[in-house]
Amino acid sequence: MHSSHSRHTPVAVAALAAAALAVGLLAPTVHAAPAAPAAPATPAPTAVSAPDIPVANVKAHLTQFQQIAKANGGNRAHGRSGYKASLDYVKGKLDAAGFTTSVQQFSSSGATGYNLIADWPGGDTSRTVMAGAHLDSVTEGPGINDNGSGSAGILETALAVSRAQLKPDKHLRFAWWGAEELGMVGSQHYVNSLAADDRSKISGYLNFDMIGSPNPGYFVYDDDPTLEKVFKDYFATLSLPTEIETEGDGRSDHAPFKNAGIPVGGLFSGADYTKTAAQAQKWGGSAGKEFDACYHASCDTSANIDDTALDHNSDAIAYALWQLAAGTPSS
Ligand code: TRP
Ligand code: CA
Ligand code: ZN
Repeated sequence: MHSSHSRHTPVAVAALAAAALAVGLLAPTVHAAPAAPAAPATPAPTAVSAPDIPVANVKAHLTQFQQIAKANGGNRAHGRSGYKASLDYVKGKLDAAGFTTSVQQFSSSGATGYNLIADWPGGDTSRTVMAGAHLDSVTEGPGINDNGSGSAGILETALAVSRAQLKPDKHLRFAWWGAEELGMVGSQHYVNSLAADDRSKISGYLNFDMIGSPNPGYFVYDDDPTLEKVFKDYFATLSLPTEIETEGDGRSDHAPFKNAGIPVGGLFSGADYTKTAAQAQKWGGSAGKEFDACYHASCDTSANIDDTALDHNSDAIAYALWQLAAGTPSS
């Protein structure tokens, strides 16, 4: 049992309660160590546990993406009004939470595209941990699982960083990519825009593309061993078996980072491949059916989400970022 969860600031109460609950599940090197008026003047810095990400908040972002699609011709695709409206929604939340945001423009297929980059002030920028998700849908539908889910998961994790007023050792950066569905155009543009020196400052890039599939699997990218392990460690605390992601390695925005020599990792709950009997045995759901039968279709709506998968994967994002950035409590 850890020793110091009685001290806390009002703003951090919810996160700390979650951290106190979670700490028993975590490795013994992880301790909840909230700061407060009663704390000694110079407490030893101690890593703080990741919060439980409220899945209701993640779903509320999905509801917004759904409404944005509905108000903009049914999709949130590159070059369409629903894309920029999605970006404005995410940016507004991040700006209000104290992130430093920037919008990076590029051109693709005759239309202007946009990446949104959000930096959490502080931490060692020569050791930057990035989390990213593509924000565009295909033109066929609203793209709520692909990829409202990853976009909402990292957004709510970023907002949790702000709620905790995390003071990580490493720098934290979040990114929402444009035009992934046209061939990872936005993320490739971002990587191309970095000088070699800037690339070397990115310790790792974590990608989240489809994390709430309605007939879910729990897939971890089998790439950088350290980044793979942090996710496996999290799912081990849930006694939830994972598999290596094999449904098209390099089919999302981690590919440009990997090709530039940056360590990558990520999570995936399955697209148009079929769940096997063995997978249904360990994860539940329907054998012989696609992980996401609405992949790239008009039925990829807010009904096309498994809440449990969205919850576990969102919590896994927070766990990974807190671990990798080695957060310390605010004071
Ligand atoms: N957006 C990706 C795509 O349309 C979805 C996807 C398919 C994916 N297979 C994947 C994402 C494997 C990550 C890993 O291609
Ligand atoms: Ca949760
Ligand atoms: Zn996708």
